[in-house]
Amino acid sequence: MLQEVRTEFLKLFSSSPRLFCSPGRINIIGEHTDYNEGFVLPAAIEKNIYFAIAPNTCGKFRFYAYNLQEFKEFDSIKHQKKQLWENYLLGVVSQMQKTGKMIPSVDVVFGGTIPWGSGLSSSAALECGFAYALNEIFSLGFSKLELVKLSQLVEHESIGVNCGIMDQFAVMFGKKNHVIQLDCKSLDYNLFPWNVEGYTLLLCNSGVKHSLASSEYNVRRRECEDGVTIVSRHAESIHSLRDISSEQLERYASEMQGKTYQRCRYILDENERVQQMGKALLNGDAKQVGTLLFAAHTGMSCEYEASCVEIDEMVDIARSCDGVVGSRITGGGFGGCTITLVERDAVDSFTKQMTSQYYVKHNISPSFMEVVIGDGTREL
Ligand code: GLA
Repeated sequence: MLQEVRTEFLKLFSSSPRLFCSPGRINIIGEHTDYNEGFVLPAAIEKNIYFAIAPNTCGKFRFYAYNLQEFKEFDSIKHQKKQLWENYLLGVVSQMQKTGKMIPSVDVVFGGTIPWGSGLSSSAALECGFAYALNEIFSLGFSKLELVKLSQLVEHESIGVNCGIMDQFAVMFGKKNHVIQLDCKSLDYNLFPWNVEGYTLLLCNSGVKHSLASSEYNVRRRECEDGVTIVSRHAESIHSLRDISSEQLERYASEMQGKTYQRCRYILDENERVQQMGKALLNGDAKQVGTLLFAAHTGMSCEYEASCVEIDEMVDIARSCDGVVGSRITGGGFGGCTITLVERDAVDSFTKQMTSQYYVKHNISPSFMEVVIGDGTREL
């Protein structure tokens, strides 16, 4: 893909480009906890978006999306808040300009191997990759963390998804064979080796596309904020669900309307599971890792209601397969992929069983990908 992107650039533009790459991510556990100032445990994967980029002298931002074979050019970076691929790039320029930097125009070709709309953060890969490249090419002086925050703002202001910081952080700070344990309140993080001997982590793509902006994502976020508002009426120094204890949540549960309590309960439990997962991984305890994956899925599906019929089915099928110790939805939800921890010797029988049973129910052939944990955004 890198060579294809480079060749396409040379065909379209007359200059010689610099090459960058930016990965997708999986999340082992800690779903929807990031915007509640909780804990997450993601990792960058070896599926990337590749960029060929060079400054130009025509004053226009010229973008070519290789996978879509679409060319677009812009004299100015004005755009409406919408989930269009060019808005991820224009949004980056716009956020950089807001900090007072002058961003000269560039030619860009990008193309990648991250399945779009599958919960693997192709959008964060796009924002972070472009932001990183501009920062390098024009020596803008942003730190990696500043690029992460700026890319998150692109989602809020140019796309309309009020996402947390996990995806951009994982994409930018990913390290080969390591998972990132991130505290989304302090932004302190630890990298530790992915170490589950004898097991394979498999991504199963349900083929159901999610759309975070048009989905319930922003609704979930508001429901969590409602819970915080209620508890903070009774207790001081409550800014997020992170500041709320289990006892406080139970004490004020009766004041919460609709699904608020249920959403908050899930977030508190999920934070706890992230801590337990950290320990299980450090101990190389595959059984416990698996138990936590199943428990997290049940929370996402029943309490947070951020799964879908097809994904629930995938997890149920996984549960019935020999050699599987755990499985759950990964990413924002409402479609996309599951991650499943399977004994290495059982991978073939698992994929066969999953393919036939899932197809019978949903008429979709799932696709599988072994998770290879890779490095974060970088120049090649
Ligand atoms: C999306 C968002 C992240 C995070 C996850 C759910 O991927 O971009 O910030 O909230 O959903 O864990």
